[in-house]
Amino acid sequence: MGEAVGEGRDGRRRLRLKVAVWSTAEEAADRAGDPSLPSQCAVVIDVLRATSTIVAALAAGAAGVVPVLTPEEARALARTMPGGRVLLGGERKAVRIPGFDLGNSPREYRPEVVGGKTIILTTTNGTRAVHAASAAARVLMGAILNASAVARAVIREGRDLIIICAGTRGSFSLEDALAAGVILEALPRAAEAEGYDLEADCDDLSLAARAIAAHYRGRLDEALRSTHHGLDLESLGFAADLDYCAQLDAIPVVPVWAEGIIRLKLGEGGP
Ligand code: MLT
Repeated sequence: MGEAVGEGRDGRRRLRLKVAVWSTAEEAADRAGDPSLPSQCAVVIDVLRATSTIVAALAAGAAGVVPVLTPEEARALARTMPGGRVLLGGERKAVRIPGFDLGNSPREYRPEVVGGKTIILTTTNGTRAVHAASAAARVLMGAILNASAVARAVIREGRDLIIICAGTRGSFSLEDALAAGVILEALPRAAEAEGYDLEADCDDLSLAARAIAAHYRGRLDEALRSTHHGLDLESLGFAADLDYCAQLDAIPVVPVWAEGIIRLKLGEGGP
């Protein structure tokens, strides 16, 4: 559990947080029983593209996003919900699933399409990473699009932080570590804005994520275009998604997963 301890500089309170990064949805699933998870704040990141899409969908007025693991589960759940208010979204091999309303491009999730609708979303890695975080005390969706807003929410939680990167089919993804680093770089500023001096006790992958973010500062679009998944998306005609997902702090909302549905955090772009 993070703790506010004593006084820091200029009479500000000192906030001590442990910070760790897990690199794939598979690692997160293996560690889902970790005894520290129930007291932690988890930030799930799948920059290309699931968490960027969730951020875009909720900012566009979707009522909520329900992350599920398989297309079959998505269809079965949709059948139990009132027609006209639900959309099926997601991808396999990065393209829209047959019969689904939407793919996994954040640019598809426009107000006129998703406003007031509940999205049932299934993606290859991202929605599995969300489910792997289920034991955490609080589960937030992070992306480059909302990095500073998420950092602020983490500080307000005051809990030790675990960042769960989705990765790609069990492998490390640079874009997720980059976004983790961007959020970690925003933490001290967020702490200061909340009246704290931050003491972050970072594991080695957190340190690496921060180094990656420092390396690519001001060049996030270039970074996404150089990644393995970014190149795949480009070859499938989704190059514009890379520029979209690289926009730092363009959508300052904080999606929170609770009781099976992701909604905006109250008071931060929420209802
Ligand atoms: C995933 O969950 O694996 C991704 O979001 C894939 C994609 O880019 O659509």
